[in-house]
Formats: sequence, structure tokens, C-alpha cells
Amino acid sequence: PRKIIIDTDPGQDDAIAILLALASPQEIELLGVTAVAGNAPLALTERNARIVCELAGRPDIRVFAGCDGPLSRKLITAEHVHGKTGLDGPPMDDPTMPLQDQHAVAFLIETLRTEPPGTVTLCPVGPLTNIAMAFRDAPDIIPRVQEIVLMGGAYFQVGNITPAAEFNIYVDPEAAQIVFAAGVPITMMPLDVTHKALTTKPRIDAFRNMGTKVGDMVAAWTDFFERFDVEKYGSDGAPLHDPCTIAYLINPDLFAGRHINVEIETTSELTLGMTVADWWRVTDRAPNATFMQDIDADGFYALLADRLARL
Ligand code: BDR
Ligand code: CA
Repeated sequence: PRKIIIDTDPGQDDAIAILLALASPQEIELLGVTAVAGNAPLALTERNARIVCELAGRPDIRVFAGCDGPLSRKLITAEHVHGKTGLDGPPMDDPTMPLQDQHAVAFLIETLRTEPPGTVTLCPVGPLTNIAMAFRDAPDIIPRVQEIVLMGGAYFQVGNITPAAEFNIYVDPEAAQIVFAAGVPITMMPLDVTHKALTTKPRIDAFRNMGTKVGDMVAAWTDFFERFDVEKYGSDGAPLHDPCTIAYLINPDLFAGRHINVEIETTSELTLGMTVADWWRVTDRAPNATFMQDIDADGFYALLADRLARL
């Protein structure tokens, strides 16, 4: 199995990404979960990450708290999407599994230094603050990363937090710039992909029909998460963003994209956090990311239903 670290700000869709990873031990070995501030403040995202591991019956997974805000900006949160706790839906008990003492950034650095080079993949599904901090503090780890598979950005599908920017990149554009300039192979799941992975009613029903605690919870989360987006986008269901990263690791054939240059806007007030994707290769800037643009959505939901039923 491929060794990964999920860097996250749960978030209902983050939670489903973690569950999908834990349901797929043949393909994925989850070395740890690092929490970051994003959808909600850090105290809630680290708590939510532990709740999710416990829900999966995996209180042994190590959860670390990382940065409580962007590198150089004020934190922007998304309670309007995810609710007051960041993981609204059915009421959840506080987790009993411990939070690790080590800072998430220290864990990232230590893990990348101790595991053999090129064997650890990072899956950031929140703002990129923790990853950028680790790269800044310990540049020696950069060439040791196997790949970064992240959820973030948008191009043809435009933004969801401003007209130009996707939330994860917008919250900490300086961090995103550090990560995109690092030279690590990056595969990105932008809104262009996730807005094709909609939580339609039959897909939510498939979760509910599992008749398990995890199935009920995932159905309730996708129901909650949907309310906002359906009104906003007028589509069949809400985009299910973050699990696309994990699905890619399990079955990359579900996705299609192009290896192109992607730069992050960090100065313009109007387009801050935009991922400027050279889709038509009209510049001579070197490709630095595989920008996914298409998904086999039915295949993706079939994978989710099959795997989550195992928990
Ligand atoms: C991203 O922002 C968050 O609200 C979601 O969890 C996802 O990671 C989508 O823009
Ligand atoms: Ca997220």
C-alpha cells in the first residue's frame, strides 16, 4: 500500500476522504492525519478529525494539530458551508482518542526524514499552511515527497469563495504558492472535477442503504452539505470535493487531466488565490502540476459505496 498523510480541515467532505482512506488498507496506509485551520478553527478541525477516526473504528490513527491560521493572513472559515462545528449533521459525541502532543508540522518533517525517500504521499484537502510551513522550515524534505495529491483550485469552473478563487487556495495563497513552486509532483483536484461529482439523491440513498453507522453518517453529512450548495448552484446535488484525492490514489483511471503550469495569484485583490492554469500551454512556463478536469462520477460513487460499506 501507498503511505500517505492526510492534511485536513474537516469538513464533511474531508471526513469522507478520511473514511475512504481507512476503508482501503490494500491500497493506502494512513501514517497520520494532520489538522489545519480552514473550514473551522483548528480546535474544531482537530477534534473533528478524531471523531472521524473513531467513527471508522480506528482510534489508533495518530491525529496532530498544526497551524491555527494562514502564514501571513487572517483566517477565513466556512461555517456557512459546514456549520458551526465544521462537521454539522447529526450530533456527535466528543472524541475520546487523544490528540498527539507533537505539532503537525514537526510530524510531517520527521516522517519525511525517516521514511525512505519517495515513499510518502501528501494529501492536503484544506488550506496548504501546514505543508508550506514544513517545506519552509525543512527544505531537505521536499525532494523526499513522492507526490502531493491535493484538493484545491479552479479554472474553467471558476471560484466558490470569490468569483476567481477556490476556498482552500484562497485562505492561504502564500502557502499555496510555496507548495506549487516546490518542484514536487502535484496532482490537483480542482472545482472543475469536484463539480462533476455531485451528491444526487440516489447516490446519497446508496450510503443510507448500507445500514451501517458509517453509511448513515455519510448520508446525513452529504444531506447537510448539500442544502447550501443546491440552493447556490441550482444543481442536482453538491460537489463532493475532498474524497476525489483518495479515490485517485485507489483508481487513477477515474480521472483525466493535463500536466501543465499552474501559478497562484497572491497580490491582486480582485483575483487573490486564483489558480492560473495554462491549460492551452500558451506560455513557456514549466509544467508543475497535473490539473485534473474530468471524472468518471458514477465510477467514483460506486467506489465510495463499495469501500465505505466495509467500515
Ligand atoms: C474545499 O473547501 C472546503 O470547504 C472543502 O472541505 C473543500 O476542501 C472546496 O472548495
Ligand atoms: Ca477540506
